[in-house]
Amino acid sequence: MQETLTALVTKAQTELSALKTRPEFEAAKARFVGPNGELTALMKQMGSVPKEQRPALGKLINETKTLLQQQLDGTLRGIEALELQAQLGPAVDPTLPSPDAGPGTYHPLTLVREEMCRILRKVGFTVADGPEVETEYYCFDALNTPADHPARDAQDTFYFPDSVRFGNVSKKTSHEKYLLRTHTSSVQIRTMLKGEPPIRIVSPGRTYRRDTSDATHSANFHQLECLYVDKNVTVRDLKALLDYTFASLLGNDTKTRFRPHYFGYTEPSFEVDLSAKHLPKVKKEWIEIGGCGMVDPTVFAGVGYDPEVWSGYAFGMGLERLAMLLYGIDDIRYFYQNDLRFLKQFA
Ligand code: DAH
Repeated sequence: MQETLTALVTKAQTELSALKTRPEFEAAKARFVGPNGELTALMKQMGSVPKEQRPALGKLINETKTLLQQQLDGTLRGIEALELQAQLGPAVDPTLPSPDAGPGTYHPLTLVREEMCRILRKVGFTVADGPEVETEYYCFDALNTPADHPARDAQDTFYFPDSVRFGNVSKKTSHEKYLLRTHTSSVQIRTMLKGEPPIRIVSPGRTYRRDTSDATHSANFHQLECLYVDKNVTVRDLKALLDYTFASLLGNDTKTRFRPHYFGYTEPSFEVDLSAKHLPKVKKEWIEIGGCGMVDPTVFAGVGYDPEVWSGYAFGMGLERLAMLLYGIDDIRYFYQNDLRFLKQFA
């Protein structure tokens, strides 16, 4: 019996050392130590061995079992190393320069943003910038949106704790809170406080709301804001600008229409709808694209402009929405996943 057991260990050693894959390993394991394996068969022979020899034989079998298990463990470790090696591929020399990824491409949101700015620059708008961290004054109060307005509800907004300081974001009053701007309309106020009319600015940028992410919502998205302040500005000028802008972006078949709405900072206020039936994403006749209106006299008074002298219009819209329309994208989350298969389509 002893020779048989030693022979088994030797045989296992030879066979196991030749194994390269997991299925081969599993089969060999079953052959040696499985319920129908060779060791099990030998153990079954214990019954026919004289009683006094059994303890010694039992010990021998146990030793063999341990030896076999050690061999199996070693073999499995070797196979796992081979598998990992196959996954990792050939060795990499980290001192070499990275392979040339070729020219990059613009993100679809960048493309739409730049195209909108180009269209608006052509008719005299300049690009204005504002901070993404705002204060309540610029985001709400100065836009005639008082403290009890639902738009200021903490549910809709990311506020910073009172202890946080942003040295580069000016506050109007010491007790107001910092927050992530919920819209780009705050740039209207910062721009007006900086200078005198006439003003003609376009301000694209990142905005934030406490939205749950789904196909059409993201807590972080982008808007584009326009403000025009001059003498004798009328709703007609506003409508003409929107008609020109969207026809330039989406083609001459595009139409716009106004629906009355309420925004604190414009009076009258409208929501803007687009009709661009030639676009793949516009299956409906009209699709909402943004908000606009004539700047409210209260807003002018707040920034020190005489509302009797100055008039103006403003509008704001979501850039994701525009890009989705333009390119036929059906889920807003694609914009933020940085999947090259998506991004390369806009090269
Ligand atoms: N700020 C608005 C929003 O985020 C959009 C908007 C409406 C901007 C009317 C404007 C405006 O400038 O006049 O939904």
